[in-house]
Amino acid sequence: MSKYIVGNWKMNQTLPEIKAYFEYVEKYSAKFNCESWIAPQAIHLAPLMNKSKKIVLGAQNSAPFDKGAYTGEVSPVALKELGAKFTIVGHSERRTYFKEHHALLNKKTEAALNAGLKVIFCVGETAQERNDDRTFVVIEEQLREGLKSIIIPNPEALLVAYEPIWAIGTGMNATASQAQEVHEFIRVQLKDTFPTTGKDLPILYGGSVNTENIESLLAQRDIDGALVGGASLKPEDYTKLCLLASKF
Ligand code: PGA
Repeated sequence: MSKYIVGNWKMNQTLPEIKAYFEYVEKYSAKFNCESWIAPQAIHLAPLMNKSKKIVLGAQNSAPFDKGAYTGEVSPVALKELGAKFTIVGHSERRTYFKEHHALLNKKTEAALNAGLKVIFCVGETAQERNDDRTFVVIEEQLREGLKSIIIPNPEALLVAYEPIWAIGTGMNATASQAQEVHEFIRVQLKDTFPTTGKDLPILYGGSVNTENIESLLAQRDIDGALVGGASLKPEDYTKLCLLASKF
């Protein structure tokens, strides 16, 4: 399978920055032989549609319902209608700052899949949990509760991102073997949960991925791509990540 490079811009980038970004990336995108995805702020999805033939656009968050009286929320149906292809669910910043819990994340996943969006479902442990040897326990629970009763319409509709919280935005990435160990564990969980499709679901690594460490991470058997925050903000780095991922 092609490797994935998913840029998570978080709450960054202005319209002029985005314009310059796409002008730069489009000079190289014909050479990308990987899945090149970007999640800008939701408000920027509309002006970005059709700016690139190669880059797939998606959302960083979506509502747990398709419509209704939910002031301030963005419906997965509206995202799909606009042309977004995926949404991120369960990012640790949403779990931590916005107190999103298993049951809510489960609803968000279900609503997004029903709307026809792909879902990148994020899991990951804190430094304390890792030190206490609880990494696998935490991840098993996040997957079990977050993906409870979820039906996957096709094997490409669900991706899991392993993002150790201690590695996000800290410059301290998990080593390739630390990440591989957890990815292998996630692969086993997914096979148990989804007997027919589980073995083929892409598993991405996220947390201080950059142009220096991407190759050793992607070389691991169970690392199918990367979810990239900081390094995806610069078009030069994002382009380089996509070109490096294209070699696999
Ligand atoms: P980072 O963020 O690459 O800046 O560590 C990753 C993420 O939060 O998805």
